[in-house]
Amino acid sequence: MKKTILTGLRPTGNLHLGHYFGAGQNYLKLQDDYDFYLEIADVQGLTDNFNNPEKVRLNTKEITMDLLSIGLDPEKVNFFVQSRIPEIAELTVFYSNLVTVSRLQRNPTVKSEIAQKKELFGNSGESITYGFLGYPVSQAADITCFDGELVPVGDDQLPLLEQCREIVRKFNNIYGETLKEPEPVLSKTTRVKGLDGNEKMGKSLGNAIYLVDDNETIKKKVMGAVTDPKKIKKDDPADPEVCMVYYYHKLIDNPNLDTVCSECKKGARGCVACKKELIDKINDFLKPIKERRKKYEDNPELVDKILSDGSIKAKIKAKEQIKKVKKAMKIDY
Ligand code: TRP
Repeated sequence: MKKTILTGLRPTGNLHLGHYFGAGQNYLKLQDDYDFYLEIADVQGLTDNFNNPEKVRLNTKEITMDLLSIGLDPEKVNFFVQSRIPEIAELTVFYSNLVTVSRLQRNPTVKSEIAQKKELFGNSGESITYGFLGYPVSQAADITCFDGELVPVGDDQLPLLEQCREIVRKFNNIYGETLKEPEPVLSKTTRVKGLDGNEKMGKSLGNAIYLVDDNETIKKKVMGAVTDPKKIKKDDPADPEVCMVYYYHKLIDNPNLDTVCSECKKGARGCVACKKELIDKINDFLKPIKERRKKYEDNPELVDKILSDGSIKAKIKAKEQIKKVKKAMKIDY
């Protein structure tokens, strides 16, 4: 019996290189050996975009195409849409009795997201909805609804997983051994730096290279990348370790990396030439991804079918699970 993996993504934007190296690469490795459920978490996406349903709807399909384009195989990975599985919402209600409001307020992931909202929206960031505060409970429902044993996530998500484990333990304590406690699977690279030198590549930071970016966009972004500030002239020697261009050469595994490094140190390589080489390498890297994507862009009904088939399969598992849970809670009428 293969172990069950479950992970989710909020459909609020396209995938960028940070997602690819921080998560996608890990999914590609895992897809062969596990029973893999991949949730497009549209209901969770609505917790911060409830007033923008079009965005969530559009990105449900976009993010699925992105995931398929990196090489995830729908024969191996069961893609499904969260809102198509109402059992998840049901579990969320049941679990909400097992979590205190103060525990949610102390959850580090929730805390940092609230702080970010305050930074972006000023005081209006204070008005946190019940749904947003409770999304860790709904995420615990996402995982346990499918008996997820392993959960591939970035390190920013670890507090959510810990909260899920607490809910599982409490549930099992009160209602009897029913749910499995999930374990995280961390990627080797969990956080990819931005070209601007920021610790994280992110949509809200405006420093991301998307898998769907065209050549012109990539060129503009790379040309603006932060390099060693001590290097003023083209043939000044520089320190590649403080240069974001070098960091990206490394990230995308440029086979010419040693030359990039030694020429940079010697002052034998100007930044413009180095950036041009990086642009070419990023384009080479994205080429097969874009080719795979084209097939789905030209046949959007294929994407609908993948999501639909996957949701039907997920529903079967969710139904079994809700039955078990209701029985344990003595509400199995
Ligand atoms: N919270 C995750 C994110 O923002 C998305 C997510 C939803 C998830 N449900 C999940 C991750 C279940 C792991 C398991 O990226």
